[in-house]
Amino acid sequence: MSPQLTEFFEFLRIPSVSTDSKYRDDVRSCADWLINKFTSMGLTPEMHETPGHPVVIARSETKADRPTVLIYGHYDVQPVDPVNEWETDPFEPTLKGNKIYCRGATDNKGQHFAHMLGVEETLKEHGDLPVNVVFLLEGEEEIGSPNLAPFLEQHRESLACDICAVSDTGMIGPGIPTLTYGLRGIACLDFKIHGPSLDLHSGVYGGAVPNPATIVSRIISSLHDEKEIIQIPAFYDSVTPLETWERDMWASLPDGNATTLKETGAAGLLGEAGYTALEQRWGRPTAEVNGVGGGYQGEGSKTVIPREAMAKLSFRLVPEQEPEEILELASTHLKKHCPDSCRIEIELGHHGPAYVMDPHSSYGQAAQRALERAFSDKPRLIREGGSIPIIQSVKDIIGVDTLLLGLALPDCQIHAPNENFTVTNFEAGIRLNRALLEELRN
Ligand code: BES
Ligand code: MN
Repeated sequence: MSPQLTEFFEFLRIPSVSTDSKYRDDVRSCADWLINKFTSMGLTPEMHETPGHPVVIARSETKADRPTVLIYGHYDVQPVDPVNEWETDPFEPTLKGNKIYCRGATDNKGQHFAHMLGVEETLKEHGDLPVNVVFLLEGEEEIGSPNLAPFLEQHRESLACDICAVSDTGMIGPGIPTLTYGLRGIACLDFKIHGPSLDLHSGVYGGAVPNPATIVSRIISSLHDEKEIIQIPAFYDSVTPLETWERDMWASLPDGNATTLKETGAAGLLGEAGYTALEQRWGRPTAEVNGVGGGYQGEGSKTVIPREAMAKLSFRLVPEQEPEEILELASTHLKKHCPDSCRIEIELGHHGPAYVMDPHSSYGQAAQRALERAFSDKPRLIREGGSIPIIQSVKDIIGVDTLLLGLALPDCQIHAPNENFTVTNFEAGIRLNRALLEELRN
């Protein structure tokens, strides 16, 4: 195995799960590991404490006559559940053929580590970089980056740069270079329905008192009509329509309806009339149920009316939809659909706006040239359905656009069991970083 892969495996072995306090020390060890790596590469690292997990910064030598590129990534990873669906130990990187299996392999350790290795290679060969580089690696992306926007505000001056680059999105297929020029935003909330003051015998009391599980189901049904149109009043008011040029461009990609069916294993598609699967996924807002619960979940039957039931919702947003306003509209809708016989409790969660940039700007063109050099093919221009809320904060606070140069393949299983990253993309990522820094030079 190459020394670069050996080192990557060492990085992957650290279980930096940000959401679970059990892994708190591991998240910190991961930040320490990065600090050591940056030092050995010849960059100047900084460890920054936050109320949560640390932010790691590393800087190259700064020269006044060249642009500064901020490279963002996240060293935290998603939990591994359901752990028994993994074919290998989730934190023991395992090479099978061309694929490296491990939690975090694609999202996001492999993708930003490739950038680090690109910088290391260039420094080894030339003793210098074509541009100034600042790495910004956070440990809280998977929990909504609660401390990063304040961090950007506080360090606005020392993070001043000309452009930001991030590899944390997808490629439309193996070997197909992909520039993502937009991301959906996100807004999350939980709600709970409280009914009777205790669990009840469903025969003795059923029919006369409200069943919170039924009420939760009814409220969930009220979110969409039978044509899949979201029924929250004013939800669509500020939605930016898709542009003709992008609809045409996406129509020229491999058949998105077919690939969506294949990638998901669903028996059929569903969605608003008049939109393709790619348009739905990249350019239209959603209301999703991410979790629902209440009542007996064990073996056999148990005749009970649960005293409470809950659901977890998230909304994916498109440009111009305001996350806070959407949470407000959604809360009003949920309250309106809760009958007087029950009490609803709503807890608002993390949120962040959508992002869109011009892929034809001079930086966008530099990114396209770098992608073409790394993959020997013309880049495709897409938007993504996933969210990286901090990207819009980088725009608002630091004042620069972000080039989203994703290396995640459709079958990489991020957030799921058996997450994997290909050796091919690991190596392409290193080449991509080297080409990108050259293309961004003045
Ligand atoms: N890397 C993903 C986002 C992503 C995945 C963008 C695939 C495009 C394609 C990121 O780590 C992520 O999962 N973000 C969360 C949002 C966060 C606020 C929890 C998401 O999109 O659910
Ligand atoms: Mn990610």
